[in-house]
Amino acid sequence: MERTQETYEDVGGPSQRLIPVSPAHRKLWARRRKAMEASGCRHSPIGVKPAGANAAFENALSLFEVLLKSCGLYQVGHVIARDIRVRQIDLQFDNLPERFDGYTILHLTDLHIDKFEGLDDAIISAVAGADVDLCVMTGDFRAADDGPHEQIMPPMGQLVAAIQPQDGFYAVLGNHDDHQLGLAIEQQLGIRLLANESDIIRRGNSQIRLIGADDVNRFYTADADRVLSGGHEDFTIALVHSPEMATEAADGGCDLYLSGHTHGGQVCLPGGKPLVTHLNVNQHLASGQWRVGKMQGYTSSGAGVSGPPVRFFSRGEVTFFRLTRRARI
Ligand SMILES: [Fe+2]
Repeated sequence: MERTQETYEDVGGPSQRLIPVSPAHRKLWARRRKAMEASGCRHSPIGVKPAGANAAFENALSLFEVLLKSCGLYQVGHVIARDIRVRQIDLQFDNLPERFDGYTILHLTDLHIDKFEGLDDAIISAVAGADVDLCVMTGDFRAADDGPHEQIMPPMGQLVAAIQPQDGFYAVLGNHDDHQLGLAIEQQLGIRLLANESDIIRRGNSQIRLIGADDVNRFYTADADRVLSGGHEDFTIALVHSPEMATEAADGGCDLYLSGHTHGGQVCLPGGKPLVTHLNVNQHLASGQWRVGKMQGYTSSGAGVSGPPVRFFSRGEVTFFRLTRRARI
């Protein structure tokens, strides 16, 4: 594999695009991320919510868990949460470079890999030995949304060892992940972190671009807009924890957008309608395949869970994509 790493330097207001020059971008990103993490506030494109704004929801989740246990449904929901589906999806594009015709991607998201005993084994057995070109991870690696991350490193190491994608592993962070977790999986496990950055994957003289935006549900900065809205000339895949930047990515010329965050609702009504999506915008993109303009997108239900470790009318998933060129008549 040949790679060209591009990092970006903050050059001012939101009308200015990032320029691919400076490794100092990562330092700046980490400093800002650390400050947002310490504040406890939720930073999103619609504004800043103070720390503790979700306390009522957290209390409701605790009550929900008590109710499930009292009526005997907790174990039923937990069995469903352990049952991870392997999905295979074919996507066609007019502009996929010929050398990438048949390119395969394993998409993992919302692993929350330390959430309950046995979840790591279930995820690893669902993907072990996968023969793919690339593995992308769109955030929420751990269960808690703050605190230590060391406990996820052994199972994440086993997961990485179980797959050998030709073009390696790429990741963006979710609202449960702090910057130290991101740097640890990159430095210790070789998972390339895209923190409002992009990278190029080449096949001979052809190339595709990967763009990764940092989580925009809790850690939004204007850098996420900038990296997505670059007017991309290459075939471009956007990785974002949530589907909340789909419009910006489509306007920016991205071709495929992979995301998670919603857990497909996790607890749904019969038929799979989510009761809660945790999306500030684009609630209609909460699950499955979708399209915004010319851009195709996918919101995975994720492999793990948060809150009570249960699912109802919703299945966890790992997703295999096969990208092909649309036949020209
Ligand atoms: Fe999640």
